[in-house]
This record gives sequence, C-alpha cells and structure tokens, in this order.
Amino acid sequence: MSAPCKTSFRATPGDGTLTVLGIETSCDETAASVVRRRVGPPGEILSNVVRSQVEAHAPYGGVVPEIAARAHVAILDHLIERALDEAGVTLDDIDAVAATAGPGLIGGLIVGLVTAKALALARRLPLVAVNHLEAHALTARLTDGIAFPYLLLLASGGHTQLIAVEGIGSYRRLGTTVDDALGEAFDKTAKLLGLGYPGGPEVERRAASGDPARFDLPRPMVGRDGADFSFSGLKTAVRHAVAAVSPPDAQDVADICASFQAAVIDCVVDRTVNAMAAFRAWAPGTATPALVAAGGVAANSALRTALQDLADREGFRLILLPPDLCTDNAAMVAWAGAERLALGLVDGLDAPARARWPLDPHAAPAIGAGVKA
Ligand code: KG4
Ligand code: ZN
Repeated sequence: MSAPCKTSFRATPGDGTLTVLGIETSCDETAASVVRRRVGPPGEILSNVVRSQVEAHAPYGGVVPEIAARAHVAILDHLIERALDEAGVTLDDIDAVAATAGPGLIGGLIVGLVTAKALALARRLPLVAVNHLEAHALTARLTDGIAFPYLLLLASGGHTQLIAVEGIGSYRRLGTTVDDALGEAFDKTAKLLGLGYPGGPEVERRAASGDPARFDLPRPMVGRDGADFSFSGLKTAVRHAVAAVSPPDAQDVADICASFQAAVIDCVVDRTVNAMAAFRAWAPGTATPALVAAGGVAANSALRTALQDLADREGFRLILLPPDLCTDNAAMVAWAGAERLALGLVDGLDAPARARWPLDPHAAPAIGAGVKA
C-alpha cells in the first residue's frame, strides 16, 4: 500500500506509551475506541464502542450509503464521548487521533475522517489516516502481539484476500476474489432464503441443524493453482437449489445453509493451503508461521474449526480473533494508528478519503480487491 506519510512526526512521550483515539465509519458500523500501546505489541483496549446500523438498512437487504453516512453524522460525536468516558480518559490524555480513511463508502469515510481532522486541529494532535484493511491486518498484533511476517486470511462483506503481512505498510497479496466477497456470498444466500441482513450469523445458525450433503453445490477454484477465490457460481447454484424446493420449509433452509457453508469452507481451506505454500516459499526462515483469520466471516465457528484443523495439519499457528474484533470496530483503527504513530508515520490535514485503497498496490487489479472489508 502507499505510505501516506506527509509529516515527519515522532511521538516522544516519556515512556513510549501511546494512547490513541480511533474512529471507524467506513460502512454500516459507527465506532470509536481508545487503545493504549506501551513499548510494543500487544496493546490494551481501554474502550471499544460500536453502534451497528443494521436496523436502518434491514428493510433494503443491504447497506444504503446515504443512510449510512447520515447515521454516522447523527451519532459519531456521542460515541467518541462514550469511548473517552469508558476508557476513563479525556482528550488531554490522547496522543493521536486515527480514523479510517478508506477503502469504503465515501460518505461515511468523510464523516469519520473530517471529525478526526477537527479534533486533531483543535487539540494540536497528530492525525493518522488509517487503511481499513491494514487495521484488520494488524488486529492480531493488538490482541496477541504476534511478530511479522504472518499470513492473513481477510474475509468480510466487501473483501476476501490472502495476504503475506511483512510489516506496517508492507503487504503482498497472494490471492483475492475475482468476483463476490465471501461475506457477500453469505449475505446473498441469506437473502435468497429470506433470512434478513446481515446474513452470515443467521446462515451459520440455520446450518447447525442442516445436512451439508443434501445439496451438491460447486466449489469454485478448488484444485486450481494460486490462491484466488470465486463465489458467484456458488451463489447461482444456491439460487437453483432454493428454486428447486420453493417454497422452502425450515429443514430445506437449514440444509441449504449447511450445504452452502460446507462448500465455502472447502473453498477457503483449498485456497489457504496454496497460500500457505506460497507464504513458506516467500518467508522460508519462519519456523512456525502464523495464520491470522480476520474480517466478519472469521467469526463463523464452522470456519474457525476448519481453519484450526488446517493449521494443525500444515504446521501453522492459528490466531483467531475474538468475534467482536473480527467484525468492524474502532479498536483496530486506533491500534493501526498507534503502530504508525510509533514509527512517526502520521498524515497531514489534507489526507483524502479513498473509496478504493488496496493494501498491495503492486498486485494485479482484480474485481473485489481494495474495496471495503
Ligand atoms: O468485517 P465486517 O464486519 O464488515 C465489512 O464487511 O467490512 O464483515 C461483515 C460480513 C457480513 O457479510 C456478514 O454477513 C459476515 O461478515 N459475517 C459472517 C458471520 N458474522 C458476520 N459470515 C459468516 N458467519 C458469521 N458468523
Ligand atoms: Zn471490515
């Protein structure tokens, strides 16, 4: 990713401790958090406030950008106040303000970034314009303090990637989706079954009482070289399965959910095996490499179990984030801000909001890359 370092600022609080306010508004979650970084990772989450807009978007079966931006405007300052209160700090204790500057829905990004700029300007604090994907990528350092390099599976509503994380601002994309994101596939399956939005948690719940072998769904890309994903053919197959049992009863719904979930897990495992091989070749000196699963879909417990089996088989250490740090939150943004601040990587007040902002600018363009995760 491009390094948006515009100002050479080095934070030098006495003992190296950094306390950062983070703001997240790139999609349909409004979030604020205060995180503390002592000498290095892991960090300490002092507060982590998230307000989901799910109900506002539910009637539309997906996120409506205009509604999202307006909702961020309405509640963001209250959430910041709450995050400071719950952390037991005031703005006097804050060393920097970090906000997601992209990728994501541009209206929401502008709300969060301009709020951060206003705070930074008024309080003479450094600003860190955070890449949302980098925030997901670095969360395992906040929680587990893991060292670079590691392999990251980032799977969410806007994004599905396998990435070698080399360091702050240094990423190598090993695979990405060529069409739909994995979370999007969960959401579309849920919509076809009338299960509401967001679909992932509900599909997971229904799948628990379903038969994963009842519907023979495709496993796109499985067996192919590389680590790219594709889910659009699977989505079409789900549509045909739903039509075949229409109207589906509760057991049909459970069986379709279970069959779909089993198919996507096979895809993820197959693609991740290839990414693990590529990672080992790229970082041969890493004795026990780590695999980190992040993004909303990484909250799925069947996927978590499958990834654990895979990691055990392949000799990787699996880092699973707590579910509330898999889905969008501001603690990861504050932490990414703290990591950058510690390196003196801060941004000017002219930092732009960016709808697209890939982590690895050298990777070949693919639909679905660099968009909101
Ligand atoms: O990272 P995230 O909170 O937001 C962005 O997309 O940026 O991910 C949300 C996505 C949605 O598509 C949602 O359906 C999916 O993650 N998701 C899940 C689960 N929880 C959330 N998918 C499968 N199983 C889950 N338990
Ligand atoms: Zn995300």
